[in-house]
Amino acid sequence: MTELSFTEIVIALAYLAAGVLFIVGLKGLTSPKTARKGNRIAAVGMLVAIIVVIADLVAHNTVSATAAWAIVVAGIIVGGAIGAFLALRVQMTDMPQLVAAFNGFGGGASALVAAEVIVSAEYSFSAEIGVTTALSLIIGAITLTGSFIAYAKLQGLIGGKPVAIPGGPATNAVIAVAALAASIFSIATGNVAGYWVATALALVLGVTAVLPIGGADMPVVISLLNSFSGIAAAMAGFTIGNQALIIGGALVGAAGLILTLDMSVAMNRSIPNILFSGFGGTVAGADEIGTKPVKRATPDDAAIALAYAQSVMVVPGYGLAVAQAQHAVRDLAAELEERGIEVHYAIHPVAGRMPGHMNVLLAEADISYDLLLDLDQSNPKFGQTDVVLVIGANDVINPAAKNDPDSPIYGMPILNVDEARTVIVVKRSLSPGFAGIDNPLFYEDGTMMFFADAKAALEDTLAALGNL
Ligand code: TAP
Repeated sequence: MTELSFTEIVIALAYLAAGVLFIVGLKGLTSPKTARKGNRIAAVGMLVAIIVVIADLVAHNTVSATAAWAIVVAGIIVGGAIGAFLALRVQMTDMPQLVAAFNGFGGGASALVAAEVIVSAEYSFSAEIGVTTALSLIIGAITLTGSFIAYAKLQGLIGGKPVAIPGGPATNAVIAVAALAASIFSIATGNVAGYWVATALALVLGVTAVLPIGGADMPVVISLLNSFSGIAAAMAGFTIGNQALIIGGALVGAAGLILTLDMSVAMNRSIPNILFSGFGGTVAGADEIGTKPVKRATPDDAAIALAYAQSVMVVPGYGLAVAQAQHAVRDLAAELEERGIEVHYAIHPVAGRMPGHMNVLLAEADISYDLLLDLDQSNPKFGQTDVVLVIGANDVINPAAKNDPDSPIYGMPILNVDEARTVIVVKRSLSPGFAGIDNPLFYEDGTMMFFADAKAALEDTLAALGNL
């Protein structure tokens, strides 16, 4: 057994410290109260990992030429600057696209690491290294192109509708099997050509697998690709023997997978249904949406209903994010609380377009976490609630999920707002939400439709409340 030098021990311990910081940071993300701190801790972990990698390179004299150093430093500066610029500029509603782009680059980076190992033939190609190298190439390449198709769909660069590919899922299965076969050829024979064929096929697979998925399902796909980017990184870590990559990659792989499963449970959809059903295409009955009569509300109607309530439950949805109405809702709630009215917020796990979307928005407006109720906490309360104020939410309050076995969202757990005495729904029209389906709640006797942009509606209601 070879003895480790002092430098090697310090490097190994620093890798361990980076791994621990990742885990502690991730733990912090489990609660909105500690999320900011968790994010910072994980970022420090990443800084430690970068410094150790550089120290490792110096210790092993791997990067000796000035040109190589210039590339390393330029990579850090340019990459860091682009990351900081994008993170500062991006709108909250565009966050899923940003995550998609980051995942794509992550997958691409892992594939490049594996490719470099093959090109430089620096490592002896045992079967194990061959397997991890091939997996890093294939999963990284799928993540790269798949993430950028997801990005393009969400950014509106290409249509969000599912695009059928010739042969459907069978074509993708053939491409996947061919990529695996090409890799096995390389691992068995040592002829590296199979790796490149596998990479090319995987790049195609990323495109053909994501194109048939509707734009609306992209957040789940992004979460799954996030998991893929982690697995690709962990595989690259095994290939080059880097512990930080293995630990970080495994954490991202597991966290992304858990999030994907949580989202699919909250939507009552299976992963194969999300990947292969083309959800978001033409929906039966779409022409009838918005043709039935509704009870309309003005700011005065909303103000009167709220002023005479004892308990109000706010249900935020995607429209709150679009309208950036989080501060307006805080101001309205403050006025109601001043009048002795109890205000809570019911948060559906998939309200909005990304996990925790509503929590982040409400936190931005300094709304206390203690007032936020999850699905299980809020559903028993609706029966005793005087007024539910729905702000830009639609699918997450659609009773068809409970009552209509033919509905595409049948079985999805929803917020039972229809049990409250009065429901005021703020949205601009009767247009459907993400699922593209009508909402029977809008036509019920106890429901008032307040057609307006969410921010304007809340500000006008607050003004009307001042006159009461
Ligand atoms: P949606 O069902 O998508 O409905 C949002 C509503 O907001 C729309 O009907 C729209 O109606 C309204 N709206 C848009 N802009 C508005 C504005 N400026 N002012 C007022 N209203 C506005 O939203 P939801 O209830 O939050 O449900 C989320 C959906 O996304 C679910 O189906 C869920 O499964 C899906 N999804 C969520 C996630 C995550 S992780 N959150 C991931 C994947 C899928 P108008 O156009 O008439 O205004």
